Amino acid sequence: MFSLALAVPFLLAGLQATAVSAIPSISAVGSKFFYENGTQFFIKGIAYQLTPSDPLVDTAQCKRDIARMAELGTNAIRVYHVDPNADHKGCMTALADAGIHLFVDLDTFTTQIEQTEPHWNETQFDRFKEVLDEFQKYKNTAGVFVGNEVLTTADGSAAAPYVLAAARDVKAYRDQKGYREIPVGYSAADIADLRPMLQNYMACSSNASERLDFYSLNAYEWCGESTYTGSGYSELQKNATDYPIPIFFSETGCMTPKPRLFEDQSAIFGEHMVDTWSGSMIYEWIEETNDYGLISYGASVDPATATGTNIEDGFTRQGTPTPVSPDFNNLKSQWATLHPTGVALSAYKKSLSSASLKCPESTSGGWAIDASSPLPTLGQTHGKGSSGATATSKNSEASSTESSATASSTKGSANAIAASSPVTERLLAGSLVLSGLVGVVAFWL
Ligand SMILES: *[C@@H]1O[C@H](CO)[C@@H](O)[C@H](O)[C@H]1NC(C)=O
Ligand SMILES: *[C@@H]1O[C@H](CO)[C@@H](O)[C@H](O)[C@H]1NC(C)=O
Ligand SMILES: *[C@@H]1O[C@H](CO)[C@@H](O)[C@H](O)[C@H]1NC(C)=O
Ligand SMILES: *[C@@H]1O[C@H](CO)[C@@H](O)[C@H](O)[C@H]1NC(C)=O
Repeated sequence: MFSLALAVPFLLAGLQATAVSAIPSISAVGSKFFYENGTQFFIKGIAYQLTPSDPLVDTAQCKRDIARMAELGTNAIRVYHVDPNADHKGCMTALADAGIHLFVDLDTFTTQIEQTEPHWNETQFDRFKEVLDEFQKYKNTAGVFVGNEVLTTADGSAAAPYVLAAARDVKAYRDQKGYREIPVGYSAADIADLRPMLQNYMACSSNASERLDFYSLNAYEWCGESTYTGSGYSELQKNATDYPIPIFFSETGCMTPKPRLFEDQSAIFGEHMVDTWSGSMIYEWIEETNDYGLISYGASVDPATATGTNIEDGFTRQGTPTPVSPDFNNLKSQWATLHPTGVALSAYKKSLSSASLKCPESTSGGWAIDASSPLPTLGQTHGKGSSGATATSKNSEASSTESSATASSTKGSANAIAASSPVTERLLAGSLVLSGLVGVVAFWL
């Protein structure tokens, strides 16, 4: 009765199930990421947010995209917003099958930590927990972000302890639940005035429970044909040398001038940086208004009149992914030549020093945080009650974007976009469309 013809599909199903659970998890040790087998993990990643709410719920679409990601040589994606109550099994399994790991942001438009009047409370924490609860199920969840570009101006340092307090609580919750030690990190805007203070503050505590597990930077400094020193990367490297936790580019890929060459990849994986940096994430997968896409699902349509379930903001967000030419192939060619081996975990462990990073000192009119002050408690708001931060005057809403432009670390006019990274703009636009948060957008305008 039980013929071979019937048995084969069952066997294959069984094999596939094994293959899925076989994706190795990623852990952070010292300043590097490692696979379970002790090989160092370098990120060749893509920012993936087809729809503002959650791109990991449409399995068929994930599979179509993953085939193209695999062609590029992608081994990680970053997703900014997810719905913790949705079913992600199909997409997460398809990603695992392709050897692709996920870095996911824990916040929403309404729960993100804000630079202005920063606070960290139970409502925010609950939401962060829900996302962690959902994604810790998957072995290919490689890391979570407690914030994206919370600090955007030179005078925004008072928000830093709130970001770190969130990381402290997420790490404690992760450990209390007995979850795998999924690295908890932060994705920073590239603000020269805050560097290296913010970066160092996040990693300098002698108490590991009050440090990030990784730090990352959204940096668009390398535009067109540039060089390690001409781009500013040598300065980033100076500030990150001997950094004690993994650091990587959580967004990169300047698009002025076009076409994008992605030559910065060979610097990030090259002799000056590869011992320090764990790779990069290219912004972004889908071609939309901001014009950063590697993939298109069709020409733009008039947002005022176009209708259809797959259209938002004038762009189709589903279908057959068509590479944007020549950018897609340029990235593919870059990555195809870059195969850093790094260091084996066993050898690295022996070389790990216990020397810690010096915490940045508080300076008047600059970095306004006393690192020896206790972190904010859950429920605390800056300026109300005892705070780890020196009280700074609250940024006026109107001036906050302006000063971010002047505080931007950019070199040359081609980098003007770095003042507010494209994803911030896009997600804010998305929030207007999706949830009608007109107030939030008006605040930023
Ligand atoms: C360790 O695992 C990774 C990911 O599966 C793989 O690429 C690498 O070749 C493995 N290293 C060794 C030494 O087997
Ligand atoms: C936490 O802050 C958010 C705003 O970020 C607010 O909507 C919410 O009511 C606050 N929750 C608590 C418990 O105070
Ligand atoms: C380290 O930090 C955690 C979280 O804030 C705290 O509970 C613990 O007491 C600290 N440990 C030491 C030795 O200070
Ligand atoms: C960090 O980089 C800046 C330039 O971007 C430089 O002025 C500063 O000295 C560097 N600091 C360290 C500690 O490397």
